Amino acid sequence: MLVTSRSYQEYAAMFDLSELPGSVLDCCAGGSSFTAEAAARGVDAVAVDPAYALPAAELLDTVRRSLPDSAQIVDEHASSFTWSWYGDPARKDDLRIEAADRFLQDVAVAPDRYVAGSLPMLPFEDGRFDLVLCSHLLFTWADQYGRDWHLAALRELIRVSRDEVRIFPLVQQGAGEPVDYLPELLDAVRPVRSEIRKVPYEFQVGADKMLVLKR
Ligand SMILES: C[S@@+](CC[C@H](N)C(=O)[O-])C[C@H]1O[C@@H](n2cnc3c(N)ncnc32)[C@H](O)[C@@H]1O
Repeated sequence: MLVTSRSYQEYAAMFDLSELPGSVLDCCAGGSSFTAEAAARGVDAVAVDPAYALPAAELLDTVRRSLPDSAQIVDEHASSFTWSWYGDPARKDDLRIEAADRFLQDVAVAPDRYVAGSLPMLPFEDGRFDLVLCSHLLFTWADQYGRDWHLAALRELIRVSRDEVRIFPLVQQGAGEPVDYLPELLDAVRPVRSEIRKVPYEFQVGADKMLVLKR
């Protein structure tokens, strides 16, 4: 699986964020600069990812290698992607390179913000974060993680949130196929309320919706 580096701008669009609440968890943050940039805005921001258990040099190498590898997935499935949000491949590459640099810089100066951990068991107490974000793990990698893992992961994201969980996208990587057991999962997490909401971002064709879970 890739340890990608999406920027704050991409997160703001994918999750339709305007203002951030007091505390935010980026779960499966990878090499994203979201946490660094949210912290710079005064938010209690924490990133969690199994990749943070890697030695620093290996993490750096993994993050850097993901840049061409993710571009390759796009090349291999060119007709499944739209450039309506990015404009062109160069702007996407610029955002990702800048985000990776910002992430690597922040890990070095504020390592406490970056916690090694994995779904479906996160090292945080119940209700620790006002908002929990999850970009490109659940549903994206449904070829590697099955239905039961997804249900356990959803329950865990809900457990560590005080108010809301947002997940993007709702389709699988590559060709962007939907995950047919999503409605079943939403039934299973009741009484938590779920909403599928359109967002102002699209890269995989048709992947323009996030899942919002409200406690
Ligand atoms: C495609 S990257 C997404 C990174 C970032 N959220 C972004 O949008 O650029 C997927 C991330 O999920 C992490 N990951 C893999 N399995 C995980 C698990 N069980 N729990 C939490 N994160 C996991 C990987 O290490 C990787 O960094």
